Amino acid sequence: MSESFAISALPALDAVLDGIAGGLEATGYVVTRDLLPPELLDALLVHVRSMDEAKFKRAGIGRETDFQVNNFIRTDQIHWLEGTHPATGEYFAWMERIRTGLNQRLFLGLFDYECHYAWYPEGAFYRVHLDTFQGTDRRLISTVLYLNPDWQTGDGGELVIYEHDQGRILETIEPRFGHMVFFLSGEFPHEVLKVNMPRYSVTGWFRKNNSLGQEIDPVR
Ligand code: OGA
Ligand code: MN
Repeated sequence: MSESFAISALPALDAVLDGIAGGLEATGYVVTRDLLPPELLDALLVHVRSMDEAKFKRAGIGRETDFQVNNFIRTDQIHWLEGTHPATGEYFAWMERIRTGLNQRLFLGLFDYECHYAWYPEGAFYRVHLDTFQGTDRRLISTVLYLNPDWQTGDGGELVIYEHDQGRILETIEPRFGHMVFFLSGEFPHEVLKVNMPRYSVTGWFRKNNSLGQEIDPVR
């Protein structure tokens, strides 16, 4: 993907960033349908589909010594991204634009971005949880980009976002191709309903910097 494409898309990106920032400010979550270029979505889809299943690992909960695989909480498989493939490299470049765009608008001090592919085989789910680990968590904004071109009602795998205190359902989000959800990581319990068809996504987190002093982020 050429840089000129990105530059010609900048005015539109500004408007979309205004929408994301406005949604995060107003309700704490927002779904975009037209953020990333179709060429990038297609390249990510080809890449994730071409990946050997052996490259995915059962996802766990917690970090470092707290890490554990728990079949009652989540049964998806993940592959952390480094941006070394052209498609994932371009994805990271877009997330960098979004990081700086959101910092200009919301003054959150978003410092970096981590992300992984997630593959939910048929029958997989992720029960209600928060995206922040206890203690010194750096995650501020969660993102999920869906890569399911043929998703239809009945395929399952909807993301359900709950109100923090009352447990009321705020939103049920279908994992449709190219749709991307942003939400405040520590504010919303959420779950992925059982999938009836394999489901793919890129899940990531904009994080603040906790590296002042002696603290370093625990390995994942
Ligand atoms: C997660 C998560 C939501 C989704 O991976 O933490 O909540 O819709 N994913 O995939
Ligand atoms: Mn989550």
